[in-house]
Amino acid sequence: MSTPASEEFPAGDARSGAHPGEAQPGGAQPMAGSPPVAGPGPSHAELAAMSREELVTLGGEMDGVRVVYAEPPVPPGSRLEKRAVRQVAASFLGVTLSVVAFVVLFVAWPWQLDYSGQGEGFDYAALYTPLLGLTLGSALTFLGVGVVLWAKKLMTYEVVVQDRHEGASPQIERQTTAATMLSGLNDTGIGRHTLVRRTLLLASAALGLLAVVPLVGGLIKKPGDQLFRTPWEPGMRLLGLDGVPVRPLDMRPGSLQTVFPPVEAGNRSADAVTMLIRLLPDQAQRYRPREGQEGYRWNDFVAFSKICTHAGCPVSLYEQETGLILCPCHQSQFDVTDGAKSIFGPATRSLPQLPLDVDNDGYFVATSDFTEPIGPAFWERSS
Ligand code: FES
Repeated sequence: MSTPASEEFPAGDARSGAHPGEAQPGGAQPMAGSPPVAGPGPSHAELAAMSREELVTLGGEMDGVRVVYAEPPVPPGSRLEKRAVRQVAASFLGVTLSVVAFVVLFVAWPWQLDYSGQGEGFDYAALYTPLLGLTLGSALTFLGVGVVLWAKKLMTYEVVVQDRHEGASPQIERQTTAATMLSGLNDTGIGRHTLVRRTLLLASAALGLLAVVPLVGGLIKKPGDQLFRTPWEPGMRLLGLDGVPVRPLDMRPGSLQTVFPPVEAGNRSADAVTMLIRLLPDQAQRYRPREGQEGYRWNDFVAFSKICTHAGCPVSLYEQETGLILCPCHQSQFDVTDGAKSIFGPATRSLPQLPLDVDNDGYFVATSDFTEPIGPAFWERSS
């Protein structure tokens, strides 16, 4: 902002808001630190006749503002300015292109990971989230670069010194301040550089899409049955953390082991992670399966989803003596001897149970997938 000092409109009484012929309320004197009173301020009619630049100058003088240095970074209308405009505009176009890429990826890129192990070659779904992050990040980076280039290369650089004062501002100061702010906006060159203005508007609209697309896009297509199934299939062996199939003799009474299905990336399949528990003899005796799930245990072994039905945290704090599983996130408790029913805390559903059996080679197998959705409740759950 360039505000050359003006000799034309002395600040005078204007600092206190008093106009010619008006008395200051309570006979107030100029505050300490105020600039010296140099005479009466302009009348209402004179104020109304002033241009914005004149009001800016007057406001600066009243506030003791001095511009000690002001220089445009490049000569207005020069080749350098045109180049700077193109650079800023290119940055804002970069925002727009990044957002378009984000939207296209969001809609068109394959995002469902293949856990079946049947697929050949690279699983492009693995790139879905990184690519969304990349395009979102590049949109914001281009915006930042554009704004910095604009400030550095097109706005006047100035150093302004101002005395501080106290108390509410009178009308005249508010009016001149508004003019100053408008002048600041004017000095950004946004009115003059049509290309910058248009590309900024385009970039702003594109950035708005970043907020809208993930919200609306997620509602375009129904999720189908993907929330109802996990990679577990009948006959799949239960693998331990080391990838070795688990046998009954591998576990002591009262112990718990985390198991995964034998599929590629099985231990990265967040919804398949399961707790295999060997009950203590007295727990096995009093074990009460949930209705319809009587055949899901194998002798004194039971298997439950490790995903908390409240908010999806991994539940794995197993208290051997009481047979309780505790979720560390919000302290929900599940009673393993009662079909992993929720008995305390915010979780309202039992942990889903994986039906178990042992194959001819003596290894644990699942006899089917979980028969109810794992994890937190969602909008299409009917039970
Ligand atoms: S996520 Fe388990 S209690 Fe909240």
